[in-house]
Formats: sequence, C-alpha cells, structure tokens
Amino acid sequence: MIKPDAMRNGHAGAIIDRFIKEGFRIVALKQTKLSQEKAGEFYAVHKERPFYGELVEFMSSGVIIAAILEKENAVTAFRELIGATNPAQAAEGTIRKLYATSVGENAVHGSDSDENAKIEGSFFFSGLEQF
Ligand code: CMP
Repeated sequence: MIKPDAMRNGHAGAIIDRFIKEGFRIVALKQTKLSQEKAGEFYAVHKERPFYGELVEFMSSGVIIAAILEKENAVTAFRELIGATNPAQAAEGTIRKLYATSVGENAVHGSDSDENAKIEGSFFFSGLEQF
C-alpha cells in the first residue's frame, strides 16, 4: 500500500516508479479509500497495540494505492526497498527514508510474509483483477 501521507505529499508516482525500477512486476494496482471499519480489519493483528486507534484513523484519512507486486523473494526484497518502519531508522535511499515523515505516517506498507501477502492481496483484489 502507498499510504495517505505519501498520496497527499505527491510521492505516489515516484514510489511506483521505484517499484518498477527495482524489478517488481505489477500483478494488480488500484487507488481506493479505506473506511475506518476496513482499515481496522486490515490491521486487526495490531488491535491490542496502543497505536491502533491512531493507525486506523490515519489509514482511513485519505486515498491509498493498493498493489500486488511479484518478484523472486518479494517479501524480503520489498522490505529492504521500503526500509525500517520508523523512517528515522531507515537506511539511506529506502522509500521510507526518502518519503515518510514519522513511524505512524510512514509512506508505505509491505506484507511481512508470503502467507500474509496472499491474505492482504485478496483483501483488495479479486482473482479477476490479478494478472
Ligand atoms: P505498517 O508496516 O503499515 O504496519 C503497521 C503500522 O503501524 C506500521 O507500518 C506503522 O505505520 C504503524 N506503527 C507502528 N508503530 C507505531 C507507533 N509506535 N506509533 C504509531 N504508529 C505505529
């Protein structure tokens, strides 16, 4: 996902360009907006965390771009490309270092396992929307 902060700050094009240049194939891509309910569902795993309310509020505050990306070892490669959750700790040149403003408003989300990538992909896209 490209999060509402990166969308508002005009970074979506540069971020998608980076995905392509780093060798990810776009399987599916769309702009959408999460309701509070859908944002809460997407991040249900973080329900007990103190930042959950803030996270749901922020993720439903504006449009996002959802995508399914394919590459060899995609989960690891994508996490390297986006950098640490907290942009202050993200390596130079990573997407979060370049475009995120805080740990909460951190520009992009990436799945943390192949299993969750499948779940999160089908959260946004039907089989007919994946190529
Ligand atoms: P993401 O990779 O989308 O997964 C969970 C999100 O929770 C994470 O990125 C951050 O945006 C957010 N998050 C994690 N820790 C904090 C925190 N301490 N305060 C606010 N948001 C957080």
